[in-house]
Amino acid sequence: MTEISLEQYRRLSQQIYQKLGLHFDEKKIYFLKKRIEKRMEALGIEEPADYLFMISYSDPHGVEMQALANLVTTNETYMFREYDQLQAFANHCLPEVLSNKQAIGQRSLRIWSAGCSSGEEPYTLAMIVQEVFPQAQSWQCEIVATDIDENMLRHVAVARYGARSVGEVPEEYLKKYLTKEGEEWVVRRRTAELVQSRHLNLNDRTDMRTMRGFDFIFCRNVLIYFDDLSRKAVVDHFYAALNPGGYIFLGHSESVGRSTTAFKLKRFESHLVYVKE
Ligand SMILES: C[S@@+](CC[C@H](N)C(=O)[O-])C[C@H]1O[C@@H](n2cnc3c(N)ncnc32)[C@H](O)[C@@H]1O
Repeated sequence: MTEISLEQYRRLSQQIYQKLGLHFDEKKIYFLKKRIEKRMEALGIEEPADYLFMISYSDPHGVEMQALANLVTTNETYMFREYDQLQAFANHCLPEVLSNKQAIGQRSLRIWSAGCSSGEEPYTLAMIVQEVFPQAQSWQCEIVATDIDENMLRHVAVARYGARSVGEVPEEYLKKYLTKEGEEWVVRRRTAELVQSRHLNLNDRTDMRTMRGFDFIFCRNVLIYFDDLSRKAVVDHFYAALNPGGYIFLGHSESVGRSTTAFKLKRFESHLVYVKE
């Protein structure tokens, strides 16, 4: 197989940026080249120029770009990741939103886990919701889990996890919300039922416009792979997707304030959270 030249690498990463919003600079050249080569090998393509042509001009339905997306995304995740953020959610934001809803007789709660990977984050949220709000089952309560990677969405549907995924789950949650089967942990049915998964590209305007009426959005450790411009577009869509009074949680290193001033910053003890007024 002919080696991918620097110019071809730039054009391929440009295609990926346009379709997925993911920014691969020249520091990531080794990572991306390896994955593209793997894909070319699977297709029996020898020349990078042929692959470049295929992805640029003969992929009208995005099938090849989807196959590449499954290979180039980083899916690292585990349950109860970034615990202090989850505490702010459980102890302050969720009770506040629920009591506002109760005050106006609304019995629905909608949470979006955007970039959910194999599902550890949405199932964590489902456990917390049930813990904080045992009446969840009698409300219209849904946690929508979305990702671009189809392989990850298959994991979400199975809801079965290894030791690494559950290592940070507090003991009482482990007993209450998961059952052990051999070496694996399976999310119990009542918890799993709160989560619905679907394919969604955060960089696709049409996809994003279908997402409205959420009380919470979690998009943690996803936008670190975007650049300022594509990150801003996603955060603007999140703003539109949230109900007034709804909260957005990005990962620790990803500040909402860097992308927009539309959200209001709120402090709960030592936690800073962003809310749509
Ligand atoms: C590192 S995981 C984060 C998982 C979880 N949110 C967490 O914090 O543990 C990043 C996920 O974002 C997804 N992702 C990357 N680009 C995306 C895009 N354009 N649209 C939707 N999902 C995307 C990847 O497929 C991956 O599963």
